[in-house]
Amino acid sequence: MIKGTIDKIAGPLVVADGMKEARMYDLVYVSDYGLIGEIIELKGEKASIQVYEETGGLKPGDPVTATGKPLSVELGPGLVTAIYDGIQRPLDEIREQAGDWITRGISIRGLDHEKLWDWNPVAEPGLEVGGGEVLGEVPETKLITHRVMVPPDVKGTLTWVKEAGSCNIDTVVAKVNDGEGVEVQLKMYHNWPVRKPRPVAEKRAPEEPLITGQRVVDAFFPLGKGGTACVPGPFGSGKTVIQHQLAKWADAEIVVYVGCGERGNEMTDVLQEFPELEDPKSGEPLILRTVLVANTSNMPVAAREASVYTGITIGEYFRDMGYSVALMADSTSRWAEAMREMSGRLEEMPGEEGYPAYLGTRIAEFYERAGNVLCRGGDRSGALTVVGAVSPAGGDLSDPVVQATLRVVKVFWSLQAKLAYARHFPAIGWLESYSLYTDNLREYYDENLGEGWVSMMKEAISLLQQEANLQEIARLVGAESLSPEDQLILYTSRSLREDFLHQNAFHEVDTYASIGKQKVMMEVIMNTHEEMRKAIRSGVPPRELFDLPLKEEITRMRYIPEDEIGSIEAIKGSVTSQVSRVIESEQTA
Ligand SMILES: Nc1ncnc2c1ncn2[C@@H]1O[C@H](COP(=O)(O)OP(=O)(O)OP(=O)(O)O)[C@@H](O)[C@H]1O
Ligand SMILES: [Mg+2]
Repeated sequence: MIKGTIDKIAGPLVVADGMKEARMYDLVYVSDYGLIGEIIELKGEKASIQVYEETGGLKPGDPVTATGKPLSVELGPGLVTAIYDGIQRPLDEIREQAGDWITRGISIRGLDHEKLWDWNPVAEPGLEVGGGEVLGEVPETKLITHRVMVPPDVKGTLTWVKEAGSCNIDTVVAKVNDGEGVEVQLKMYHNWPVRKPRPVAEKRAPEEPLITGQRVVDAFFPLGKGGTACVPGPFGSGKTVIQHQLAKWADAEIVVYVGCGERGNEMTDVLQEFPELEDPKSGEPLILRTVLVANTSNMPVAAREASVYTGITIGEYFRDMGYSVALMADSTSRWAEAMREMSGRLEEMPGEEGYPAYLGTRIAEFYERAGNVLCRGGDRSGALTVVGAVSPAGGDLSDPVVQATLRVVKVFWSLQAKLAYARHFPAIGWLESYSLYTDNLREYYDENLGEGWVSMMKEAISLLQQEANLQEIARLVGAESLSPEDQLILYTSRSLREDFLHQNAFHEVDTYASIGKQKVMMEVIMNTHEEMRKAIRSGVPPRELFDLPLKEEITRMRYIPEDEIGSIEAIKGSVTSQVSRVIESEQTA
C-alpha cells in the first residue's frame, strides 16, 4: 500500500502527492470515503487519478492509498442476471445501502460471496492443467451452465478437487501444484484486471452469422459471431432501439449490455423489459442469459471508461467457457467524451476535436477484444461479438470517434436521418452500409440456407441500387417515361423496402423474424419480380400488374407469426396464378 495525499481536485481528476512508488493503472482509494479511482498519469511524486465516483467534498490533504493492484472484476457464478455500475457494484445493493444512485465509497463486491451454488466437479486429480481448464460446473441460471475454469495465469498439476455439493464461491474447489512446490488454491471465482485482454489459444475469422432476427441485418449486412460492428447515427435515428433489438433477439448464448453515458430511462426500458421477454429458442426469460452494466448520464463521467472495460472483461470470461457472447455498448461516443475530458484536465496535447491522440488506439484495442476463438484449456470454441453505437454530433461521419471505429470494425450499419424522418425503421441505409463478413459466411449460408440465399440477397441489393439511379432519372423526366422493366424495378424495390427491410421493433410479431421466415419473405418478393418481368416481356402493361391484390398479401407477410410460415410460402402460388390470369386476359384481348 502506497499512501499519499490529495494535492488538488479538478472534477473527476484528483492529483495526489507522495505517490512515487505507485504504478500506472493502480487501483486507488481516495479520501476517507474510499472513493475508487485509477492512476492514469505519473510524474515524479505526483499521480493523476481518474476517480470513478463523485469527487465533491474532497479537499487537499485528504489521504490517498494506492493498492498496487489494477482495477479488476470478480469472475464467477452470479454474473448472469446481475445489473452493475461501471465498477461492478450491483446497483440494487447500492440502492439498498444508500437509497439512490449517486453514492460514494460504497464497497460492495461484484459477486455474492454467501450464496450457495451446486458445484459439480469435472476434472480429476493428477491432470496437468493450465489456464482455461474446466474444473467443474455450476448451474447458474436455467439457460447457463457456468464452467469454473483454472484462471489464465495458473498452471501445474491438479492435486485435489472438491466433491460435488453445495458451496459458496469462497470455497476452495481445487488445488494445483505449480511444480515448484507451491500449492495454489482455486476458488469458484477469480479476479481479472479489466484493461488486460484475457488470453485465448487462437483467434479465427468468424464462420457463422450472428442471427439477430432483424431482416436488414441478417439478410443484407450480417455480423459474424465473434465479429465487430458499429452503428453510428444522428440523434433519434434508432441507435438504442437497434442495440436493444440485438440484446433481445440475437442468437448469442450470453448478452452483455453496456449502457454508457446514455439517458437513464433507456436503461430502465431494458431493465423492465428483459425479465418479461422470452428467448425465442428456449422460451425462458431473456434476463437469464444477460449481464447489464449501467453507467448512465446521471452517473460519474470517468466511470464510463470503467463500464466499457468491465463489460468486455465479463464478455471474454463467458467466451472462455465456450459460449457465444454478444456485447452491446451504447454509446461509445460518451466513453470517448470522458477520455477527452480527462485528457483535457491532464493538459495533454489534444488531437482532432480535442480528443486525445490515443483515442484511435483505445478504440481499436477495445474492438480487438472481440473474436471467434479456440479457447485455452480444452477443445472448446467461443465467440465474443461486439457492437458499438456511436453518436456523432449532427450525425457527421467525419467525427473522430466514427472514423477511429470504422478503421477497426468490419460491419457498418449507417443510420440515416432521412430514413428515420420518413419513419423507415430500422433506419439502416442500404446504399451506405456494408458488411465485410459476407464472404466468410458464404459456406455457412450455402449449407444452411441453400445456395440461392447469397445470390438472392445480391440481386435484391442490386435492385435497390438501380432504384436509386432510376429515381434520379424519374425526377428529371417523370416516372411514366421509364421503360416498363424499369418501372418494375421501382415497384419491387419499394416492396423490398416496405415489406422486407422495414421492421417495427414494437410490433409483437414483426419485432423478430427467424432466418427461415426471412428467406421465404425474400423469395416471395423476388419470385413476384420474376413473374412480373415475364409478364411485362410478353406485353402486359405494368399498371395491370402493380394493382393486383397480391400486393396486400405481400404487405401482410411481416405480421404472419413464425408458426404459420406455410401461409407465406402459399403466397408464391397465389402470385403465380394472379399474374398468369393477367397474361391470359392480355393474350385473349
Ligand atoms: N426498429 C424500429 N421500429 C420502430 N420504431 C423505431 C425503430 N427504431 C427506432 N424507432 C423510433 O425512433 C425513436 C428513436 O430511436 P432511438 O432512441 O433508438 O434513437 P437514438 O439514435 O438512440 O437516439 P439518441 O441519439 O437520442 O440516443 C424510437 O423511440 C422509436 O420511436
Ligand atoms: Mg440512444
